[in-house]
Amino acid sequence: MGRDPVLLRLTVRTHPYFISLEGGEGVGKSTQARRLAEALRARGLDVLLTREPGGSPGAEAIRSLLLEGDANRWSPGAEALLFAAARADHVAKTIDPALARGQWVICDRFVDSSRAYQGIAGEVGDAAIQNLHRIGSGGRLPDRTLVLALGDAAAAARADVRDAGRPDRIGGRDARFHARVAEAFRAIAHGDPDRVRLIDANGSEEQVTERLLAALSDLLS
Ligand code: TMP
Repeated sequence: MGRDPVLLRLTVRTHPYFISLEGGEGVGKSTQARRLAEALRARGLDVLLTREPGGSPGAEAIRSLLLEGDANRWSPGAEALLFAAARADHVAKTIDPALARGQWVICDRFVDSSRAYQGIAGEVGDAAIQNLHRIGSGGRLPDRTLVLALGDAAAAARADVRDAGRPDRIGGRDARFHARVAEAFRAIAHGDPDRVRLIDANGSEEQVTERLLAALSDLLS
């Protein structure tokens, strides 16, 4: 017996995707992750909004270890391992179960943050980060990654306002480090243009959300 064509269309339309939002400090990523989740829900999609480091009880506990305390609390290798461990728990306990339930997943940062911050701008190297990701999370990648990009000065000014002069352990690194992070995200986008799209983060919140939706149009049709 053939399937009801209306049901079939609904089944196709609700195929869930895993989307990550990335970018340096102060680009408006968390606001846009929230706005994007709302825009997708308004289209009738079931959406889980989550974040890294964190997104599961174990990973949220690791988040505090990573973001609080002395700037030199962890060696570069230990820091990369902690991010990979948090991510492994997040994928296993939150992301994969949500996708299996049919929910879209919008994730505020994922492995490309480790590649940019610890791998390329930091001392660990991109290949080592990708190895850790294979070990921890089976090399899981989002279906689409949206990198918000803003000039370094504009991003630093926004981050200052957001953090009220009290950035976290990694956000508080110097301007040269954050410029390398921004450049790393651009390199990651150029290296994988099918998955990773650079999005101009200038303009109003509404304009930026429209650009994000446009970069997902093939997944939404
Ligand atoms: P947030 O500001 O988006 O909450 O992110 C917390 C900080 O953690 C931010 O400075 C970026 C940093 N980070 C890494 O260095 N590597 C990672 O893999 C992730 C997910 C975040």
